[in-house]
Amino acid sequence: MISTTILEQLHQVETPLYYYNLPLLRATISTAKKAADQWGYHIHYAVKANNNPRILQEISALGLGADCVSGLEIERAIAQGFQADSIVFAGVGKTEEEIRLALNRGILAFNVESLEELQIINEIAKMMNVQASVALRINPNIDANTHHYITTGLDENKFGIMMHELEDCLALICAGESALILVGLHFHIGSQITDWSVFKRLCLKVNEWNTWFIERGIVVPILNVGGGVGINYQNPDGEPMVNFSDFFALFHRFLEPKREQQVHFELGRSLVANCGSLISRVLYIKKGITKNFAILDAGMTELLRPALYQAYHKIQCIAPAETKGDAKEIYDVVGPICESSDCFGKKVSLPVLVRGDLIAIRSAGAYGEVMSSRYNLRKPLQFYFEE
Ligand code: LLP
Repeated sequence: MISTTILEQLHQVETPLYYYNLPLLRATISTAKKAADQWGYHIHYAVKANNNPRILQEISALGLGADCVSGLEIERAIAQGFQADSIVFAGVGKTEEEIRLALNRGILAFNVESLEELQIINEIAKMMNVQASVALRINPNIDANTHHYITTGLDENKFGIMMHELEDCLALICAGESALILVGLHFHIGSQITDWSVFKRLCLKVNEWNTWFIERGIVVPILNVGGGVGINYQNPDGEPMVNFSDFFALFHRFLEPKREQQVHFELGRSLVANCGSLISRVLYIKKGITKNFAILDAGMTELLRPALYQAYHKIQCIAPAETKGDAKEIYDVVGPICESSDCFGKKVSLPVLVRGDLIAIRSAGAYGEVMSSRYNLRKPLQFYFEE
């Protein structure tokens, strides 16, 4: 929840604004790290979820590695304190420039997504006279039971190396003149996964693949099982963090690494989502024929998730309680952008709103700021960090 002192300050500031609760962020990261440490697991923070420099500083200071998907993410992660050799670099479309940068920086591993990419990394590494550490991303063909836009582990998705390319990948890595070192296997099946039986299935699949490699005489040092653990968007105050102890204990129970194998995770949303809220002001109340609209000064340009994935975010009026009675009204809460999908929530019950009221759209710390755009030539975002 947002404290009263902070609320008073928020009333002075320009909106729309991203509010970040840094004490909650630190508590979340520390709790996750402690739970992972218990089993000797490693966490790479998925920078794509939130690359705000201040957020990255906090996370790197607590000793996590990073999971990056572009050259600029790698540069920013290093600039904000992440160790280069703790960085994994994923993505189906790495450019030559990005590959060179990653090799120059000495990252932990490329998470390689196709045979052709592996060939190019090999060529570039040879030209640079360095070795490239690679993890092969394997598509485990598991349905993550989540929104289809954020499911990645099915055969129909573009992610991961296809089964029929795997033997060729191994041949390339093992060839005498290869500049490639196989350091891991990588899996990631999707995001916002709340049905944890999916992770059990993932563990069993990873065990099968690990055995497949071991049978070929290869014990990879790292099993990277990706991220994807879902958060509670309905009740961010009741459950501000995922139960990380249970999450890692599930992997400890079902995943069977060899003694010398490390287990790595790439967590994004679960580390940052509930630490952020988008704060907005009510511009106008429009009484329609069948419904009322609350028109905000924030829109899909500041938080795209509802428009893109029909994602639910809790919407709260944070006007001081004394100014609001008990009366409620039902609103469609919309933004100012010229798109019908620019809607944060339909039929939302809120105290009777007036122009100027402050609204918090909760759990916006992940895939919020990073997916914002300047469509309609919107103003740059404002920030408020609670220390
Ligand atoms: N590792 C890989 C290879 C990924 O593709 C992702 C997310 C992660 C880790 C981190 O997953 P997380 O722990 O955050 O679930 N924009 C969408 C989410 C896209 C997720 C993309 N990949 C959203 O707003 O829901």
